[in-house]
Amino acid sequence: MANGLGYGKVILFGEHFVVYGLPAIASAVSDSTLAEITLAKGATPPGRPGPGAFIQEGRGWTLHDSRPETPGYKVEKAPEQKRSIELMLAVLKIDAARTPLKITLAGDLKAASGVGASAASCAAIARALSGLFGLGLSDAQVNEVAHEGEKGYHGTPSGIDDTAATYGGLFLFRKGQPKNLVEPIRTGRPVEIVMGNSGLTASTTKIVDGVRQRRAADPGRFDRIFAEAERIVQESRRALQAGELERVGELMDRNHRLLVEIGVSGERLEQLVGIAKREGALGAKITGTGVGGYMVALTPGRELQQNVARAMERAGFSALRTSIGK
Ligand code: MEV
Repeated sequence: MANGLGYGKVILFGEHFVVYGLPAIASAVSDSTLAEITLAKGATPPGRPGPGAFIQEGRGWTLHDSRPETPGYKVEKAPEQKRSIELMLAVLKIDAARTPLKITLAGDLKAASGVGASAASCAAIARALSGLFGLGLSDAQVNEVAHEGEKGYHGTPSGIDDTAATYGGLFLFRKGQPKNLVEPIRTGRPVEIVMGNSGLTASTTKIVDGVRQRRAADPGRFDRIFAEAERIVQESRRALQAGELERVGELMDRNHRLLVEIGVSGERLEQLVGIAKREGALGAKITGTGVGGYMVALTPGRELQQNVARAMERAGFSALRTSIGK
């Protein structure tokens, strides 16, 4: 038996634009996914599924998914999850048909859009496979395997989610060939944030594709948006490092408007952003894929964090209280 862990993530600046090679800033969050993998004799592994576990089977492996979830997420993502596991096994040259496996997913990270759930599960599974088969994968190799797994969820991931899931921390990321650029960012102290969950599951593949189509139809407008997105990331890195949180918040608001312009917001996300701003969040924006999934609000100090999170909860949403940086 072997275990592995992957962190959830929040993208603070530059989602979507990062797919086109622009820089972005992301951080791991406190919630994480744990994978446990055992060698199972025969196709159906021993043991009973945990209460409410979602079960699916592939070529020689069985998955018991006990992560908390946004209702409907696991069923909707099941084909992608299956493809993802097969891709990771293939890249590691593990033939589960000959060595049957039981994979269990648990941990406090919600299986939901926008919080890096797929990447966290990929990093956790990659680490557990490394342990079980004595592969001794380095973090960089775990990241590569997790990236392969992410392709099962959305064909052309930028790599920002699997990087956060593997290493944790707050960092600037730029997709590159052959290597991505990853630069840690220090804030001096942790800064509280709230992540509001729209409760809707989003398809990253479809939404990234929609942005691609809208860009192809109006390249001039998108060039201007991309230029602004890049300026926001560079300025927000400086502001984060200087501890200028009011400025960071303003930049988040500006980044949110760009995401609205490229068509990845949604009614519930706008409602959550509105709640956060009314309660005094310094900035609030969509995070990750958008349309559904999560938004993020900058709420330094426990009191502001509580006020914002409670207001979201009163409106019927769930909220994740966590922090970024140090
Ligand atoms: C998804 O968490 C972030 C996107 O930018 C896609 C990607 O980076 O691959 C929307």
